[in-house]
Amino acid sequence: MIETPDPGFVQGAGPATSAVWNSVVSVWPEHEKFLRASFAGRSPDLLDTTEVIADLLARVSRASGKSLESFAADYRHLCEKIVYPEELHFAREGRYRLTTFAEADREVYSNPAVMGPYMNGLFVSDALWFNHASAMNDFAKVYLPRAAPGGRHLEIGPGHGMLLHLALRFGSFASLAAWDVSETSVRHVRSVLATLGQSDRVDVRLMDLASDRALTENRGRFDTIVFSEVLEHLERPDLALERIRDLLAPDGTVWINVPANGPAPDHLYLLRSPAEAEEAVRSAGLEIVRAAAFPVAGATLDRALRKQLPISCVLTAKRA
Ligand SMILES: C[S@@+](CC[C@H](N)C(=O)[O-])C[C@H]1O[C@@H](n2cnc3c(N)ncnc32)[C@H](O)[C@@H]1O
Repeated sequence: MIETPDPGFVQGAGPATSAVWNSVVSVWPEHEKFLRASFAGRSPDLLDTTEVIADLLARVSRASGKSLESFAADYRHLCEKIVYPEELHFAREGRYRLTTFAEADREVYSNPAVMGPYMNGLFVSDALWFNHASAMNDFAKVYLPRAAPGGRHLEIGPGHGMLLHLALRFGSFASLAAWDVSETSVRHVRSVLATLGQSDRVDVRLMDLASDRALTENRGRFDTIVFSEVLEHLERPDLALERIRDLLAPDGTVWINVPANGPAPDHLYLLRSPAEAEEAVRSAGLEIVRAAAFPVAGATLDRALRKQLPISCVLTAKRA
């Protein structure tokens, strides 16, 4: 049997987490210092969620025949070649580089050479980056346990499908649906669910949140809605939030995860703080039920605000 040693300084990290860590360090040794900072002080709950994410990554890797090292190489590419240039631009100019969907579509969504490593790298970042893993943990360990059993659940923009996996594992819903505007994402989510043997549990559809059909067939339908890392991609985030309000059942709640100061080639909508995120949500006729903010590894919230560093803003809201 091959043993995968726990990294000594990550007490309590599980075997899948260690395997992902080791793969990343093998293709990018200089990144270990960042990983140490990102894992310092992770709670047992957070380490458990990290392990669930890393385990899903390992299963997807086995099912697709793409090695963990290859995911790790995509992660390195994401950090160095995709995100870092955007961070430089943001530091210099104080704004995101692109402003229209057409530009993002041309540079990212319709460019497989960018899109492939980008999505794979983001999947790895959900386990490794403190702010990303903490947001996932908030969803799995705080939001889902409070959702009433037997509800109708919707995720808008599931991307790689991680949050659907968490919803299936930690929630107890009567039905689950997922809408994505991208055919690639829809195919990807379906294949992840097939890998998990859960294809029949989620109704995955090609659907634009902004379309008339999305509302006419579903007004007031959903008890829980997930909207994670989508708002910052939109030209009209205000309309998207209003649409979500109208899709919620009277007692329903939406779980929103949106970065402040998170430059990326397809991010259009810049929020500079959790307070700005809360204001945007309130302006759409939603009432904040709970808010949490997770700054990038190694930074306090104060420092992240002062230095304009990434902060994952997590909000639970209901109809006002
Ligand atoms: C960065 S991914 C987010 C993945 C995942 N939710 C997460 O938290 O990592 C953004 C996803 O939102 C989808 N999306 C963007 N605009 C959308 C819209 N108007 N309606 C539905 N999905 C949309 C994209 O196709 C993509 O799959």
